[in-house]
Amino acid sequence: MSRTVVPQQVVRLITAFAVATVVFVVARQAFTAETFGELGHYRAAAIDSIVAREIKYAGSQQCAICHGPTYERRLQGRHNGLTCEVCHGPAASHVASPVEIKPSAPRDRAFCPVCHSYSAARPTGFPQIDPVAHNPLVPCIACHDPHAPEPPSIPEECSACHGNIARQKAVSRHAALPCTTCHEAPEAHKVSPRSVRPTKPTESSFCGTCHAQGPSEGLQIPQIDLSTHGQGYLCWQCHYAHHPSSGDQ
Ligand code: HEC
Ligand code: HEC
Ligand code: HEC
Ligand code: HEC
Ligand code: HEC
Ligand code: HEC
Ligand code: HEC
Ligand code: HEC
Repeated sequence: MSRTVVPQQVVRLITAFAVATVVFVVARQAFTAETFGELGHYRAAAIDSIVAREIKYAGSQQCAICHGPTYERRLQGRHNGLTCEVCHGPAASHVASPVEIKPSAPRDRAFCPVCHSYSAARPTGFPQIDPVAHNPLVPCIACHDPHAPEPPSIPEECSACHGNIARQKAVSRHAALPCTTCHEAPEAHKVSPRSVRPTKPTESSFCGTCHAQGPSEGLQIPQIDLSTHGQGYLCWQCHYAHHPSSGDQ
């Protein structure tokens, strides 16, 4: 007659697992929040505590009721994408008691550069300024209506809104070429930039006017054989026109 002998180490392992399981079950019971799992994988009571929080924002539609003209003016201007409370802060309490509680107005020069100071990460065409150099010391709102901002005069330079491109070009081999060498930009583009668009080069032969062998022979312009160079791709699929390089610098 043979008895199966369970090896000692297995007995210890089973004991250890059994103890761990008991500890887990007891701990789970003790630490799980009361209403957890009633509605889903979260604490049902959390809904009540969130609902109980004070509402701080009212939304622009509310402001329109009493500040109609300001609301309308904003819709006509370039700040039409901003809600009132972006600048005035949460104002639900003001809506509830308009005379007693008044939202602050950001009249300080430091405020507007939060969005308008130059940063290479901002999208192309976004109006940006250098707060140190742009009309220093005078408050921004002395020259720009915060509810419908306009530059008091039409910007002269493309760099006013295309700072990133202008800065790259300035340190590139194309530094000497004005933007308008390659883009026909109507004056109206500077006033309504999204509805009036400048042209962009569409064919490689455009770059060829300077870089093809032949026409500019003798000038200090690096030349390529237009018929073979680039294997039929557009030039700017390989060379960034605003900072071109032949890869050997
Ligand atoms: C129920 C009417 C009402 C609503 C709604 C309302 N306001 Fe007002 N608001 C007033 C009145 C009245 C004053 C002027 C109080 C005074 O000058 O005594 C005022 C003043 C202000 C001021 C000027 C504060 C200052 O320093 O001069 C700002 C800014 C303002 N409101 C922003 C808002 C915003 C933003 C909203 C929307 C979230 C809003 N208001 C909604 C009635 C309203
Ligand atoms: C870009 C930021 C900005 C936005 C967006 C904005 N405001 Fe203002 N608002 C200001 C500044 C700055 C002032 C102070 C203007 C001044 O003192 O000349 C101001 C002033 C006010 C005043 C005081 C009276 C006046 O006209 O000078 C009211 C009322 C007001 N804003 C309401 C609103 C409402 C309503 C909206 C949304 C439709 C809104 N604002 C959106 C920045 C903003
Ligand atoms: C929350 C971000 C934000 C803040 C804060 C802000 N702006 Fe703007 N601003 C914008 C946006 C978005 C546009 C529209 C850009 C576009 O149309 O591409 C704009 C447009 C402008 C323009 C138009 C430029 C042009 O060439 O037509 C001026 C001027 C301007 N803002 C001034 C101000 C001033 C002054 C303040 C402070 C009172 C301010 N902005 C605060 C986001 C902001
Ligand atoms: C003394 C008047 C004055 C003051 C103060 C002023 N600006 Fe301007 N702003 C202008 C003029 C003029 C232009 C258009 C010509 C230009 O490009 O310089 C302009 C243009 C702009 C533009 C459009 C992009 C551009 O360069 O053309 C933005 C955005 C702008 N300003 C934001 C601001 C902000 C933010 C402040 C405050 C830190 C401010 N401005 C202070 C007069 C002023
Ligand atoms: C007032 C601001 C402003 C000024 C000044 C400005 N632009 Fe623009 N530009 C924009 C905006 C905004 C866009 C649209 C960006 C987008 O929606 O992708 C744009 C787009 C463009 C485009 C792309 C068009 C397309 O269809 O993709 C070119 C090219 C361009 N601008 C060239 C210029 C040149 C050259 C100048 C100077 C003569 C200039 N811009 C001055 C704001 C400006
Ligand atoms: C050597 C010719 C050349 C010069 C100089 C030049 N560009 Fe361009 N630009 C191009 C080409 C090529 C494209 C790309 C066209 C495409 O992708 O369809 C382009 C695209 C653009 C675009 C749209 C794409 C983007 O990157 O946002 C803008 C905006 C623009 N250029 C603005 C400018 C401005 C502002 C200047 C002057 C600071 C300038 N360009 C100078 C050739 C040039
Ligand atoms: C108006 C004449 C002109 C036009 C148009 C032009 N370029 Fe240029 N390009 C130049 C000049 C000038 C240089 C630099 C010469 C120097 O640095 O000595 C240059 C330099 C270059 C270089 C650098 C070559 C090297 O050796 O590193 C490349 C690449 C280039 N351009 C590509 C292009 C492309 C792509 C286009 C079309 C989007 C274009 N160019 C349009 C005049 C032009
Ligand atoms: C498939 C990618 C590609 C395309 C498309 C392309 N290039 Fe190039 N280009 C290169 C490379 C890689 C070099 C560096 C090696 C060489 O000289 O061939 C270069 C070099 C150059 C040079 C410098 C030549 C020198 O002698 O210093 C110029 C100028 C140039 N390209 C202009 C252009 C123009 C203009 C176009 C459009 C007709 C164009 N490239 C299209 C990849 C390309």
